[in-house]
Parts: sequence; structure tokens; C-alpha cells
Amino acid sequence: NKISGHVTFNNVTLQYEEDDDQALKDISFDAPAGTVLGLIGATGAGKTSITQLMTRFYEPKQGDVLIDGKPVSDYNLKALRRNIGFVSQESFLFSTTIKDNIAYGNPNASIDDIIAAAKRAQAHEFILEMPNGYDTMLGERGMGLSGGQKQRIAIARAILIDPSILILDDATSAVDMETEFKIQKALKEVMKNRTTFIIAHRISSLKHADEILVLEDGAIVERGKHEQLLDNGGPYQRIYDI
Ligand code: GTP
Ligand code: MG
Repeated sequence: NKISGHVTFNNVTLQYEEDDDQALKDISFDAPAGTVLGLIGATGAGKTSITQLMTRFYEPKQGDVLIDGKPVSDYNLKALRRNIGFVSQESFLFSTTIKDNIAYGNPNASIDDIIAAAKRAQAHEFILEMPNGYDTMLGERGMGLSGGQKQRIAIARAILIDPSILILDDATSAVDMETEFKIQKALKEVMKNRTTFIIAHRISSLKHADEILVLEDGAIVERGKHEQLLDNGGPYQRIYDI
């Protein structure tokens, strides 16, 4: 009963507290299985809030959040969350071996599966250069790894978990060009056949999105593909110019 990952929001509003302003206002979109949806907007615009409605960390005040046409509230919570993967530079890593960090969420994975996932995530080479390879112990929060390396460990983990829906919180930190190239290659690999939400801090990661939502104060102020949005000369174009 694996879900295919078709995500639909119909007129969704969200309010965290009684007295708060609405964190999301009348959000509607349809992301068919396997497509890429970009979310961009200033801090506090509501990007993370959208993803938290999918995982049911919060309930909408109004409107429907559907996965494969079924309200998320009708899903078994564990099954739902097993189908939604997160990759971000702050992805939590534990004080255990690299291999157990990759297999986190998938304890039955064999070492061959772990290595295959690491290879696809462009992590195999740097892991082999570490003192004990896959058995190297990481410090707390992945101490001993660079931001770009942590991200690739998180990608390897997501490849093993194999979720239908993937949420990428794009890294903000500067990495060198070679690392950037490897991360892009790893992301391409992990996004294959999954509905992917890219929370973008850089417009470059949205170029190939099927649809981009530009958020301001919880509302969608503009939507479309990269080229169209640039042609519009609206909010997206202004973010692009920064
Ligand atoms: P950045 O991650 O900073 O780029 O922002 P974002 O676009 O992800 O915004 P987010 O969805 O986190 O927040 C949208 C609005 O909801 C903001 O006004 C937040 O202050 C508010 N908000 C987010 N999480 C919570 C929460 O747990 N409780 C309350 N009360 N408000 C929240
Ligand atoms: Mg956020």
C-alpha cells in the first residue's frame, strides 16, 4: 500500500494560535506524483508550514490536504510519515557510525544496500577516505563532517528510506564548486520518481521545477515556471535580482 505521492492542497488556511494571523491563506496547488514543486519566499512566508501540513504536524484550519486523493487525516500517521522524507543541511545525524547514520530509519538495510545508496548520493568516496570508512564514528550532530558531506549522508539515508514524497530544504551555506556539483548530482538521483518539494533559498535550484509558488505572508502571490516568472517581472523577478 505504498502511496504514489500525488499531493493536493485545496483552499488551505492555517493558524497556529487563536490570536495569531493566518500563517497560510487560501493555499491551493496540485502536484501530481513525481513532479517538482518549488516554494520560495522571505523568512516567515509559510514554506515550512506547508510541509508540516503534509506530515500532519499541524492541522489546517480550513481546506483539504490530500495525498493520492485521500485526506491526510485518514492515513495511519506512521505510514504517512514513512512516505515523506526530508533532506536538509540540518538533517539530524547521530553519534554513531556513518553506516548506522545512513541506515537510520531502515535498520534492516544490508551493508551492500548502504554502500549502493552512498554511491548514488556521491558520498562513497569521502566515506572511504575517513579513518574507519563506513565504521567511522561521527561526533554529535555529525561533527567531523562538512556541511556538504552531511547533506550527502542525509541524501543517502533518504535513498534507502525510499519515500514517495521528498522535502528538500536547500542548503544556504557556501560550498566549493566541486561539492556543489556532487550535491546537485546526488539530489538528481534522490528526486527520481518522487514528488519533490524544494524549499529554495537560491533560485538556481528552481529552474527545473514543474511549478513554483512564490509566498508572501502566507499567501501565494505568484506561481508558474521559472522562465514564465522571470518574464512576469513580479516578486520572483525581484528575488532573482537580489
Ligand atoms: P523560513 O524558514 O524562515 O524561511 O520561513 P518559512 O517560510 O518556512 O515560514 P514558516 O512556515 O516557518 O512560518 C510562517 C508563519 O508561521 C510565521 O509567521 C511564523 O512565525 C509562524 N509559525 C511557524 N511555526 C510556528 C509555530 O510552531 N507556532 C506559532 N505560533 N507560529 C508559528
Ligand atoms: Mg522554514
